[in-house]
Amino acid sequence: MSAPVTKVLFVCLGNICRSPTAEAVFRYLVEEAGLEQKIEIDSAGTAAYHIGKQPDLRTQAAARDREILMSDLKARQAIEQDFHEFDYILAMDSENLANLEAIQPVGSKATLQLFLDEYGSMGYSEVPDPYYGGPDGFELVLDLLEDGCDQFLKSLKKQGFK
Ligand code: 4NP
Repeated sequence: MSAPVTKVLFVCLGNICRSPTAEAVFRYLVEEAGLEQKIEIDSAGTAAYHIGKQPDLRTQAAARDREILMSDLKARQAIEQDFHEFDYILAMDSENLANLEAIQPVGSKATLQLFLDEYGSMGYSEVPDPYYGGPDGFELVLDLLEDGCDQFLKSLKKQGFK
């Protein structure tokens, strides 16, 4: 039998700024730790506006400066089935969380959490939406997600995954 895999889904609104950044940052940390056989990572948006699109070019540029690559990612919308597939569904802000709660089915296996509220150590409970702002917003997203992903990986390791 194959070893159990912990499946993680990061969710924001459009799936072109915050959640693909979270996916790429967490993948970087998981690969660095040699844990890619144990942890699977994906991202999605609560809205359908950007389905099929690559991450926002501002997001990609800011991440590339930190060696985080994500040009292979394509936006998709979160669906009810995700609650049966994933162990963790991690919302970037409280509006995303409320939208996910609205589609969470009875008997879902996923643990649904407001990501930074659980794992951040920088005093933020949400990842602010950078879409309509300037470059600083994209740097803040990266700072918050590097911290949150680091804490989340430590938490998974401490509990022996799942
Ligand atoms: P994200 O950012 O939720 O972090 O991907 C946004 C992307 C697109 C829009 C809003 C936020 N939009 O309004 O199109």
